Amino acid sequence: MTLNDWAERVNRRLGEIPSIVPEGEYAIGGMPGLLSRSMRYSLEAGGKRLRPSMLLAAVEMLGGDTDAALDIACAVEMIHTYSLIHDDLPGMDDDTLRRGRPTNHVVFGVGQAILAGDGLLNCAFETMLACACEHADRAADYLLAIREIATGAGVTGMIGGQVMDLFCEKAKVSNTSALEYIQYGKTACMFIYPLRAAARLCGANEDDLNALTAYGRAFGLLFQATDDLLDVTGTTGDMGKTLGKDAESGKLTCVSAYGLEGTKALVERLHREALDAIAPYGERAAFFRDLVDSMVNRTK
Ligand code: IPE
Ligand code: IPE
Ligand code: MG
Ligand code: MG
Ligand code: MG
Repeated sequence: MTLNDWAERVNRRLGEIPSIVPEGEYAIGGMPGLLSRSMRYSLEAGGKRLRPSMLLAAVEMLGGDTDAALDIACAVEMIHTYSLIHDDLPGMDDDTLRRGRPTNHVVFGVGQAILAGDGLLNCAFETMLACACEHADRAADYLLAIREIATGAGVTGMIGGQVMDLFCEKAKVSNTSALEYIQYGKTACMFIYPLRAAARLCGANEDDLNALTAYGRAFGLLFQATDDLLDVTGTTGDMGKTLGKDAESGKLTCVSAYGLEGTKALVERLHREALDAIAPYGERAAFFRDLVDSMVNRTK
């Protein structure tokens, strides 16, 4: 299966998940149609579906049941989409274009955009808990997996990284340990922990957890380094977002800290690290090898 194949499977399932099916505008006990529309506006705007696809590919690599992991993967995409809605808010990065569309707050207003993000985050946990209940015979594996995802998205992970990203921008902090903290938290954790969740769903051992953690870390840091590069060298058409914002707002990024050439050297180093991490799996890790290869010179 390729990234596109996994992404298609995720997209199909996201369209079916009951908790975000539209309801009547004032149906008591139902979800407001406005909320459903605003959540779906961002969720269905496209997006590469990298994180859920990687979770599913890891389950397959470890010999697990990808059908039984599908809703967990979809929940990861809901959390990622919420993080993008909030990241774009005027009080955060103040962006007006995302996934090739006007940002959520531009269309629905700031208040509703905050709530659309909250809704996606809550739906993610409702979806994961419902999935754990459906597989009650393996509830312990599901609980461990859900805990990994909560950790990655949480205060020591994505939220923590976003806090320091904003803090360093406003306070003009520019040291590399701050940069490493930010990029590990805001981006790498949203790869590391979904991969660890995949391992948990398969009842995998410490070696698998460690290998996937190392791959997720290198991949995530590489992904953010290329995001920082593309903010300077990419095109809005490909990226679907307004570029050049990092320098304009004085954001602490790989490019501001290491320069363009230094960032490209970092990408090379992380590429090798990611490949080393999955080497023990040989051909079974072909998806992960090809994926990180394709990220080095990505344009979108
Ligand atoms: C954007 O993530 C946020 C970063 C961590 C740089 P993606 O580039 O994966 O965004 P989508 O999901 O494809 O829109
Ligand atoms: C965003 O990083 C990371 C998260 C949303 C958690 P960026 O702020 O660099 O992402 P873009 O460039 O807006 O996609
Ligand atoms: Mg940001
Ligand atoms: Mg941003
Ligand atoms: Mg960026």
